[in-house]
Amino acid sequence: MSDNSQDYNRGGFIAFIFTMVFVVSFFIYLIFIHPGVDLGENVKSVESAMAKSNEPKFDITKEKEPWVENANVAAYGATVFQTNCSMCHGEKGLGDGAAGAALNPKPRNLVEGQWKNGGDSISLFNTLSNGLAGTSMPGFAQVKKEDRWALVQFIRSITNNKTQDDVAKLKTFGPESK
Ligand code: HEC
Repeated sequence: MSDNSQDYNRGGFIAFIFTMVFVVSFFIYLIFIHPGVDLGENVKSVESAMAKSNEPKFDITKEKEPWVENANVAAYGATVFQTNCSMCHGEKGLGDGAAGAALNPKPRNLVEGQWKNGGDSISLFNTLSNGLAGTSMPGFAQVKKEDRWALVQFIRSITNNKTQDDVAKLKTFGPESK
């Protein structure tokens, strides 16, 4: 081999060493310094998601009086609302759901709450059970009554027009409701 080719190889060798040092330092940086790279991270998040799905869910059927104001029932009602109502009334109940855009009248803004059929718990329960005549608001009698009460509580928790309940009437109406 000539001196020239040895010089060339030495240059290549130095470049190789530099590259290796760079690559090795990069990995050291990734593994020990960069906080976002934790090879156990994905496993942990999957585990915590699984733990969550095993947590006991709120059981509305255990509520003896789901018509009595209760923040847990209202919070559960929010989940029933997302399934059955948000497509028309919008996720926040502002009447802006995609499926309602073309309806006339449009789905009600439940936060404003200009009730045609009353905003007390009994009236709202009846609206949810029977629908609202002359509009596309369907009846939800097929939704179990505890879920309809949870919806009533959710609506009353978000509306600015929360009509006073007749407590005595509600006490007899609730247990008889179907
Ligand atoms: C197909 C679309 C649609 C769905 C789904 C829907 N609504 Fe409605 N809703 C309407 C329309 C339309 C109105 C009437 C608006 C009006 O009269 O101005 C209405 C009105 C209402 C009212 C006002 C009643 C009153 O007395 O004025 C309430 C409360 C209500 N909806 C609750 C719900 C709840 C809770 C659900 C889910 C269980 C639901 N809606 C599902 C379209 C829908």
